[in-house]
Amino acid sequence: MSERRPIIAANWKMNKTIEEAGQFCDALLPKVAELAADTGGPQVVICPPFLALATVVAATKGGPVEVAAQNMHFEPDGAYTGEVSAGMLLDAGALAVVLGHSERRQLFGETDEALSRKVPVALDNGLLPILCVGESEEERERDDTDRVLRRQIDAGLSRVPDERLAEVVIAYEPIWAIGTGKTASPEEAEDACGFIRSLISARNEGAGEGIRIQYGGSVKPANAADLLGREEIDGALVGGASLDPDDFAAIVAAAG
Ligand code: PGA
Repeated sequence: MSERRPIIAANWKMNKTIEEAGQFCDALLPKVAELAADTGGPQVVICPPFLALATVVAATKGGPVEVAAQNMHFEPDGAYTGEVSAGMLLDAGALAVVLGHSERRQLFGETDEALSRKVPVALDNGLLPILCVGESEEERERDDTDRVLRRQIDAGLSRVPDERLAEVVIAYEPIWAIGTGKTASPEEAEDACGFIRSLISARNEGAGEGIRIQYGGSVKPANAADLLGREEIDGALVGGASLDPDDFAAIVAAAG
């Protein structure tokens, strides 16, 4: 068993109003209170839309569940219409931020270059960055998975000093498995997570040992234990199944 503490994150994407976010917390918190408070339990994180951040922060205050944003700009302030800075996220009570999700890369022009700036800015501000990487179906079929992962990891972590690499969380999310119901097999997921770890180890052996690598892509209560039981997989980034408090609590329990 690795010493790495699993991290289970609920990526709500563009779902839930402020009221629905509050209702979710009321339903979830009693179910995960004991699990997450136990020192051996996983770190549990909810990533609501920006507008519901404050509500989820207030609802989870003093408890074991933490709150993350789904994106962030790398500048501290300025004329960047529609953007939110690391300082603003901290001000709202977020402790972590998801960066480089494939939906942002594919639909909103998120680049490796921008991510190479966002990841260290998150770290420097004391936010836990969750950097998402993953190949498309076409890239996997062309046998390009390793090359794509290497490019995304090299770029996203290029400005992170070696001694801080283990403070980043990586989410391996094959694009073909996101929202499709097609999960990577535990073997495929473990191979990719192991490859990512080898890239980090090549920069710093201790960081390779310490860095946490989640799997994401159609994680459900029914497949969570198989995926989370793998040595190289240190948690899950959960989309669809995280919208239901019972399903999300079951996935948290599978990591406990
Ligand atoms: P999914 O999404 O669980 O709905 O496949 C995962 C993600 O995009 O983080």
